[in-house]
Amino acid sequence: MKFFLDTANVEQIRQALDWGLCDGVTTNPSLVAKEGRNMEEAVKEICELVGPDRPVSAEVIAVEHDEIIAEAQERAAWAENVVVKIPLIPEGVKAIKTCTDMGIPINATLIFSCGQALLAAKAGAAYVSPFVGRQDDIGYDGMKSVEQIAQMLYMYDDLNSEIILASARTVEHVIRGTQCGAHICTMGFDTLKQLFKHPLTDIGLDRFLSDYRALQEKLGG
Ligand code: G3P
Repeated sequence: MKFFLDTANVEQIRQALDWGLCDGVTTNPSLVAKEGRNMEEAVKEICELVGPDRPVSAEVIAVEHDEIIAEAQERAAWAENVVVKIPLIPEGVKAIKTCTDMGIPINATLIFSCGQALLAAKAGAAYVSPFVGRQDDIGYDGMKSVEQIAQMLYMYDDLNSEIILASARTVEHVIRGTQCGAHICTMGFDTLKQLFKHPLTDIGLDRFLSDYRALQEKLGG
């Protein structure tokens, strides 16, 4: 499973790269706003930081086909690793097809159901992004939609989208994603850090180090 970082924060991306745990980046308008930065400037910096082999998603703001296409072309010209994020609305699905035919890779975003993923995949989206945490927020089991999408995509040779498990907030989301074959998980920096954590690792390390220090003192003294 590939790990994308869901952030527009350059320091977080730098740290994840240093750990060898960043295969790409996804941004959205809210994440860019959180950093208080101009989208073009932020995305260009992130693209350069991660290098040409790691995709970076940049979202359109437009909601009408022709405007979406214009914004998609603009974002695609920012760097060779830009993937354009388009929301799953009727004009968006139409634009996904147009962009795909033009050779612009698309990440279909704001997907909350298997039916929506099917529309995006049929339009040729390179990636479909089901949002898991936001479904959990309103009492659904968000992972169920990811499982259904995985089952669907693995069954049809003519649907070639990769699944980006998005809005991943917990270790459980990530693990269930691996179990159903989600190709990618995009997660915030806090979720990435949660994956390291286990109380027995901390307790075990403390014990190993103190036992070894005691041995050194015994041998030294
Ligand atoms: O970027 C899309 C998605 O991952 C957003 O996550 O946590 O804002 O629901 P969240």
